[in-house]
Amino acid sequence: MHDHLTDISNVLVIGCGGAGLRAAIEAKLAGLSVKVLGKRSKVDSHTALAAGGINAAFGNLDAQDSWEQHFADTFLEGYGIGNPKQIEILAKESIYAVKEIEEWGANFAKLENGKLDQRFFGAHTYRRTCYSGDYTGKSILEALLRQSELLSISIYDSEYVTDLLIKDKCCFGAMSFNMRNGERTIHLADAVILCTGGHTRIWKKSSSRKQENTGDGYYLSLKSGCKLIDIEMVQFHPTGMVLPHELAGTLVTEAVRGEGGILLNSKGERFMAKYDRERMELSTRDRVAIANYTEIIEGRSSPNGGVYLDISHRDKDFIVNKIPKIYRQFIDTQSLDISKEPMEVAPTAHYSMGGVMVGAEDHSTNIRGLYAAGEVAGGLHGANRLGGNSLGEILVFGRLAGKAAVKYSMSLDSRIRSFGPIKNAHENIDCLVKKGDLPVSPLHNELSEIMWNFCGVIKNKEKLEKGLEGIAILKEKVKNVGIRIEDKNYQDLVNIFDLKASICSGEATIISALNRHESRGSHQRDDFPDISNDCAVNYLISMDADKRLSVEYRNIIDLECHLKKIISSTGSTNTTRDKLLE
Ligand code: FUM
Repeated sequence: MHDHLTDISNVLVIGCGGAGLRAAIEAKLAGLSVKVLGKRSKVDSHTALAAGGINAAFGNLDAQDSWEQHFADTFLEGYGIGNPKQIEILAKESIYAVKEIEEWGANFAKLENGKLDQRFFGAHTYRRTCYSGDYTGKSILEALLRQSELLSISIYDSEYVTDLLIKDKCCFGAMSFNMRNGERTIHLADAVILCTGGHTRIWKKSSSRKQENTGDGYYLSLKSGCKLIDIEMVQFHPTGMVLPHELAGTLVTEAVRGEGGILLNSKGERFMAKYDRERMELSTRDRVAIANYTEIIEGRSSPNGGVYLDISHRDKDFIVNKIPKIYRQFIDTQSLDISKEPMEVAPTAHYSMGGVMVGAEDHSTNIRGLYAAGEVAGGLHGANRLGGNSLGEILVFGRLAGKAAVKYSMSLDSRIRSFGPIKNAHENIDCLVKKGDLPVSPLHNELSEIMWNFCGVIKNKEKLEKGLEGIAILKEKVKNVGIRIEDKNYQDLVNIFDLKASICSGEATIISALNRHESRGSHQRDDFPDISNDCAVNYLISMDADKRLSVEYRNIIDLECHLKKIISSTGSTNTTRDKLLE
């Protein structure tokens, strides 16, 4: 047996972004011992990138707004396959979550009357998105970190988790190694909460940075016996940077459009009129992404292969006040003053809407003692996520998962410990450290090309099958990579674990996409261009003992009567509404 450290806590949280911190705070407030592990610096987790805002139906500017309307917008714009109970909880609880995080120090923009300002975001019926300029995620993350510090929560942010420890469908901890010195730790815990983010970095153009959102949580959970739900539902944000090439995909927040930005093609046409005349640039993300993509591939693109996003009709002071980060981003990277010239933008992989299948109320998985919250969890957004709902999601469901983990921990009268899973976890690391001909990093690039070319904004059977062939070849190459740690550099070990997780998540996504014979929201197939009632289901991916993936479907969760009534009685511009209510 390899040397390792051992530690014990009641609740182990994997991931130190917003969902992880909020879950940890809940467990700590309940008096339990809690430990947070993360692979990135805690002050710069992926949450820091969330830009434009967080939704809560305060009705500060539009008094007609209500949680019911927030529910209806989210459910309908998710094209009816989101879990209604999860959506109801989000719509109700976001109101408290935003108040709480403001009390903890998030510096939201305020109106003259002292209430929170709320901006328009795409496809929301009312102004509902609270914000801190265009750095809302950072402001929320800082508030959570301050709160965690006040509560003396232990956060270890250079730990790479390689396996969850599972015995008899029960999770009793995790194995990690330290990314700086390779030291292994067995973390024994009553309950484990996965908050590891999504998998959108595996597309060539992505709004995530290198080594984040690599699908680790999906791989860990599939290996442990969890299922993924609707993992093919990957959101392409309509506006990623086009230049400079090394930053292609970097987010240009929807707040630009929320504050009046317009989209133009090379002919100077405000083309959204063709795609959604009523909502124009503030249509749903799937529609705006498809519109941008269509303009580009039909030859009406800007010189560098994007479309124009223009807010130069607004005052410079207004721009610098409302979207300071974007203003600086274009000055710093392109010497472009967006108060004078338009930006060039194109779709970028932005958010994993599918994910680990969880119970709506407690975010438990089908493995006892294992919970999932934040982007890694699925079910909430259906086929299209409304901008501003992800920051709500991490706070609301981070808290609820933390609460459920506390309840579970307190209910235990004995704890599982088992030598077998610990031995396997060691072997899973040992077997990767070997001499081989291939370096690992280029294989990440190969995967991101495969996902971009064959599982991009518009898919079809032929492309997806080519994608699967590419992944099969990549899996063979992985057998021949060389991972050396003699010089105490553990980055290759991180890279190979990330790569295996990314390949598995990519394969799961393609398999699920192949099975969904329709176009619904962000899942667009040119060989099945219409939404289909037969596909109004959730697709679930599982992994068998030989690590083979399989897909099944389950019927969507029915709308309870009171929720059906809400939808019938609230106004919405969604064209599929009547169909969804049939
Ligand atoms: O465009 C944005 O600011 C992104 C927000 C979100 O994904 O919720």
